[in-house]
Amino acid sequence: MSDLPYVDINAHHQPRGLRDHIAFGFTKTLRFCADTFFAKRYGHRAIVLETVAAVPGMVGATINHLKCLRRMCDDNGWIRTLMEEAENERMHLMTFIEVARPTLFERLVILAVQWVFYVAFFVLYLVSARTAHRVVGYFEEEAVLSYTYYLKEIDEGRSPNLPAPAIARHYWKMPDDATLRDVVVVVRADEAHHRDVNHGFASELAGIAPAAKPAPYPEHASDIRMVR
Ligand SMILES: [Fe+2]
Ligand SMILES: [Fe+2]
Repeated sequence: MSDLPYVDINAHHQPRGLRDHIAFGFTKTLRFCADTFFAKRYGHRAIVLETVAAVPGMVGATINHLKCLRRMCDDNGWIRTLMEEAENERMHLMTFIEVARPTLFERLVILAVQWVFYVAFFVLYLVSARTAHRVVGYFEEEAVLSYTYYLKEIDEGRSPNLPAPAIARHYWKMPDDATLRDVVVVVRADEAHHRDVNHGFASELAGIAPAAKPAPYPEHASDIRMVR
């Protein structure tokens, strides 16, 4: 497989105003924690962080769904977009769990972080949906960079370029000889798409024009059975 789809790995929303700066500062703090905790264990890093990444889409979808029911209004396609994001992140997790196994300590971290992050993100979304989407936009900027570093580790031989797990070949419609590198390339493209969509939602809520068209979204299988 080639390196397509192309991803602008340096796309960055310049923080404007207090809310953007809070979102950016919060993201950079978490990035520092992740760097300290995982260092270059990218498989483990992907597993733990994907359990977090799959939360905001479902929270955003739930809150928008309830809001549309109350106000009896249209959602402009936001709910499905956010549910798709949550599902896509869960498939990232199901893919990387075939590549690395979390330690017992990491499983405990996942458990604790899920409680805290779900509640915190839910409250943040209720208080300021705009800030919540900006946070996700910045998270996704970091995800794009992390997967770029993961690619470098594979390309320079520090991480093995294993065969792509069957679940990934099915989900991203990859050939039988696809490798882990090919998987990381399409996962990174997914993250770039989420990045642009969430920055776009935040900008829409802030009343400013989104920067550009979202990065292209890779094609995914519509039936996401657990192929092994
Ligand atoms: Fe992800
Ligand atoms: Fe993502």
